[in-house]
Amino acid sequence: MTSNILVIGGTGKTGKRVAQNLTAQGHNVRIGGRNNDPAFDWDDPSTYAQALKDMDRAYIVYYPDLAVPGAKKAIQTLTDAALKSGLEKVVLLSGKGEKEAEACEDIVANSGLNYTVVRASWFNQNFSESFLLDPIQAGHVALPMPEAEVPFVDADDIAEVVTEVLLNDAYNSQIITATGPRKMTFKEIVNEIARGTGREVAFQSISQEEYNAAMKAAGVPDDYIWLFDYLFREVLGNPENQDVSNDIEKVLGRPATDFRAFVKKTAKTGVWNQSVTS
Ligand SMILES: NC(=O)c1ccc[n+]([C@@H]2O[C@H](COP(=O)([O-])OP(=O)(O)OC[C@H]3O[C@@H](n4cnc5c(N)ncnc54)[C@H](OP(=O)(O)O)[C@@H]3O)[C@@H](O)[C@H]2O)c1
Repeated sequence: MTSNILVIGGTGKTGKRVAQNLTAQGHNVRIGGRNNDPAFDWDDPSTYAQALKDMDRAYIVYYPDLAVPGAKKAIQTLTDAALKSGLEKVVLLSGKGEKEAEACEDIVANSGLNYTVVRASWFNQNFSESFLLDPIQAGHVALPMPEAEVPFVDADDIAEVVTEVLLNDAYNSQIITATGPRKMTFKEIVNEIARGTGREVAFQSISQEEYNAAMKAAGVPDDYIWLFDYLFREVLGNPENQDVSNDIEKVLGRPATDFRAFVKKTAKTGVWNQSVTS
């Protein structure tokens, strides 16, 4: 059966992949974003009802992160509007190891809507489509938390999981933990990318304070510096947050993509060989 599906964050790393998957399966997708018609803007709750109108299901990607002040109120307002508009089900993208995000998960769980939560580890695509792309292109990656071992996960895998659990009500009321198949340090990640591209990419360990100062010098707004500080210290800093899960395999019937396979696939696009644009 064809469904009308709202994909909030549908131009972002997981959302655009979810939108592609759903469209390929014949569903009608509405991208929820600031430049779409109707527009959806997390900062403007008056846009929520129109974006939800005539939709059956929705994938919810909050931006910038469910841990920021204001996220709880926005999720509460959105789920209230979704219930009112008669939505059948939502899938919430959450962050693994983020205590603050769990408060937003609870709001969705208590909303009266059918739901599934997908709790994801840090994405591989942070190195190819996000804030860690520039340092890779520049050949010099300076980051804190060198000892942190993280089960980085592929956004393609997350999107496949989201597509399945969004359409399949057998996953209602469940929390799916999406991680890659092994834990890796930043240095190991950088070495894998260097190996897969044949480029020299150096890794430098710096303190959190040095990283925050570098962001400040680069003009990053204070609330984003606060968020990165939180994500590095609280999420990556706690080894208990970094367990490998086999939920991706349970949902998809195949193992999660290894980082090396991600590097092979991404290297072919040439994105890591381009020079820094900013
Ligand atoms: N990146 C990770 O490693 C990671 C790991 C676990 C969980 N997550 C979660 O994933 C979510 C997305 O993070 P991301 O950094 O990966 O971003 P992203 O999904 O790649 O991109 C941001 C998306 O958010 C949309 N957006 C930005 N501001 C918006 C606003 N005011 N109203 C509506 N849409 C807005 C953008 O759409 P338009 O520009 O078209 O409006 C774009 O589609 C966060 O909730 C984060 O906690 C991320």
